[in-house]
Amino acid sequence: MLFYKYLGRNALKGTVLYEVKDEVAILTVDNPPVNPLSDGVRTGLHESLVKAEEDDTVKGVVLTGNGRAFIAGADISEFGGNVEGIPLNEVFNKLEFCKKPVVAAINGVALGGGLETALCCNYRIASKTAFVGLPEVNLGLLPGGGGTQRLPRLIGPGEALKMMLSGSHVPSKKALEMGIVDKISDDVVAESIDFIKEMAGNNDNHPRVRDKNEKMLEARGDENVLLDAQAMAAKARKGQFAPGQIIKCVEAAINIDDFDEGIKKEGEYFMECLLHPQREAMIHIFFGERAASKISDVPKDTKIKDIKKAGIIGSGTMGGGIAMCFANAGIPVHIIDQDEENLKRGVSVIEKNYDFMVNKGRLTAEQKDGVFSLVTSSLDYKDVSDCDIVIEAVYENLELKHEIFKSLDEHVKEGAILASNTSGLDIDSIASVTKRPEMVVGTHFFSPANIMRLLEVVRGEATSDETLATIMAIGKKLKKAAVVSLNAPGFIGNRMLFGYTAQANMLLLEGALPHQIDQALESFGLNMGPFRMMDLVGLDLGWRARKLSGKESPLHAKIGDELCEQDRYGQKNGAGYYNYSEGSRAPNPAPENEETYERISEENGFTRREISDEEIVDRCILALINEGADILSEGVSQRAADIDVVYINGYGFPIWRGGPMHHANAMGLDVVIEKLEKYKEITGSDVYKPSEMLVKLAKNGEKLGEAPEKDNRKEKLGFEMSSVANNF
Ligand code: 3HC
Repeated sequence: MLFYKYLGRNALKGTVLYEVKDEVAILTVDNPPVNPLSDGVRTGLHESLVKAEEDDTVKGVVLTGNGRAFIAGADISEFGGNVEGIPLNEVFNKLEFCKKPVVAAINGVALGGGLETALCCNYRIASKTAFVGLPEVNLGLLPGGGGTQRLPRLIGPGEALKMMLSGSHVPSKKALEMGIVDKISDDVVAESIDFIKEMAGNNDNHPRVRDKNEKMLEARGDENVLLDAQAMAAKARKGQFAPGQIIKCVEAAINIDDFDEGIKKEGEYFMECLLHPQREAMIHIFFGERAASKISDVPKDTKIKDIKKAGIIGSGTMGGGIAMCFANAGIPVHIIDQDEENLKRGVSVIEKNYDFMVNKGRLTAEQKDGVFSLVTSSLDYKDVSDCDIVIEAVYENLELKHEIFKSLDEHVKEGAILASNTSGLDIDSIASVTKRPEMVVGTHFFSPANIMRLLEVVRGEATSDETLATIMAIGKKLKKAAVVSLNAPGFIGNRMLFGYTAQANMLLLEGALPHQIDQALESFGLNMGPFRMMDLVGLDLGWRARKLSGKESPLHAKIGDELCEQDRYGQKNGAGYYNYSEGSRAPNPAPENEETYERISEENGFTRREISDEEIVDRCILALINEGADILSEGVSQRAADIDVVYINGYGFPIWRGGPMHHANAMGLDVVIEKLEKYKEITGSDVYKPSEMLVKLAKNGEKLGEAPEKDNRKEKLGFEMSSVANNF
């Protein structure tokens, strides 16, 4: 007979269900939705283990999770606060030295402290759909529940380091091959019960991972394991603190005979990570990404449309990349182009991308065939009539988009969502040509769309709750970090980028050189400095747009325009702010440009001066922060963390600084204002006039957080008046 008893306490979060079946105690972690090891779970686990030990009729213990997860790790929300309940290592100790054999029945995800729990059990049986991993590094942490000591003992230090430094998720089949789990089963709990019954006679002879020392002894004296790990961390985790700590833990595992001494070292290194500002920054982004999908004025229970088929208009780089996102998520996608040659080329690029993945071992040939078969194409709009969403991805021209949306409105079935991938045009204007403005929305993907995680969702005046909720849900399905922006020039990301690159250009005009500016910002942590980025995008785009507008170029654009006049368009023709050898993207200095810089500076009344790296970083990052504060005060973004998610996932801002808004909060808003005022004085530019929101928050000792209530917002920029719009 089944009988459950709740052992957790009301005030604590989560619990463990206790049941005895066939003389086996079944402990089920119950802390929805993903069973983290919150205080109630830790207490419940400890008490359940004592109870199972004390019950003479119980032969062994099966530990599993309720719902879709086994255990998703420690409770991330507890880090940095006062932790109640039994400490994790005490629970793990009880588990590892349980007087009865324990099997981890890994029914779903076992991540971080979840896998560490399983590693304290004598045996591990996983379901076919489960996956395991130690992703703490993504939170600025290391596996602090013994993972750095136990996993290397189980699978060897090299493989363990790869897993811990990448934070990757390992599917159960691979985990079996690697030796992380002992068996795979369709019914993990039933299989575990049978296993216990089989093994129960094996008194005192149940393996413990802590005792497996062979792989440590083998690695002792072999420096390559740690050197490879350092190289991996330097390449993939530049600027991050936790990877070095992980490597030190594994070094201890290899070189210290006493397991408990290794655990002690792990504890010390973990604590250093916990107290490091990067931990707070990265956890801010973990929760920020999840908060971004929640829209404060859209009810949670809003109906979500089922997206069974998608259509894409335009087979260029963006269209093709977006099509891949849908196909990768298992959603059939149909591409339309008006030009047969373009369409053929676009589809063949998609196939080449998949072939590349096969060559790299990321897909099997069979998987490629499966996913590529979901992509179809034609020249006729009628062929997207049955789609549930159609995304337009043609070049930025409002008249052209009006034409396309009129056609889509006519051809695509009633109730389908019509989206535009515009990076800066007015969504309300696009929606106005249709009879379904409530189903029109911006879906701004970033290039290459199949790789970049950011999806800016642009909410028009008429966009309905249902449309928005559906897009946020589809964003999650496509594995994107989706963030909502109100319809305002430049949306969130490009509006901030504009102020930032403008300041980089002003620094060039005042005396710094492109490589100095790039290096200063790359040392700060950005993936790519602004001049390398402008060369990559192409200097000619803005130049042509400014020429067309017939207006005089702003000061910050003068040098870029002059380079274009000299046919230096950037990477595309091998010369821009840098020179590029044929077929290479590596920037080489271009000393021949210096004469141009000096001349344009002089013509515009600047006496070139030495500029420090500190001033470069301050001025560019402060421009981001000040614009971000305005974006927030206008309600264009819902919360400061949304801006951080945009900037990290779309613009190469270092995750370990938590995004520009978190960086401002971490600096202290009073310090931010002091610096803004200093640079306003030096440059005379309004770019550094502190945003009213910053001033108000700093005065009250508050931080950048939620956007103000609707009635208290600063007026939103209009497309007509905006200077941003003219520059994109
Ligand atoms: N602690 C607290 N809350 C967690 C959590 C955790 N470990 N993992 C997920 N959650 C919360 C999320 O914040 C979210 O809350 P919300 O609904 O209020 O926004 C909810 O659970 C669902 O999460 P997702 O939306 O991410 O659900 P998915 O199904 O998309 O993904 C997942 C599930 C793969 C488990 C993903 O949530 C995840 O990667 N979680 C984090 C795993 C992790 O990093 N574990 C290590 C923790 S640190 C640690 O264990 C230290 C130890 O070594 C001592």
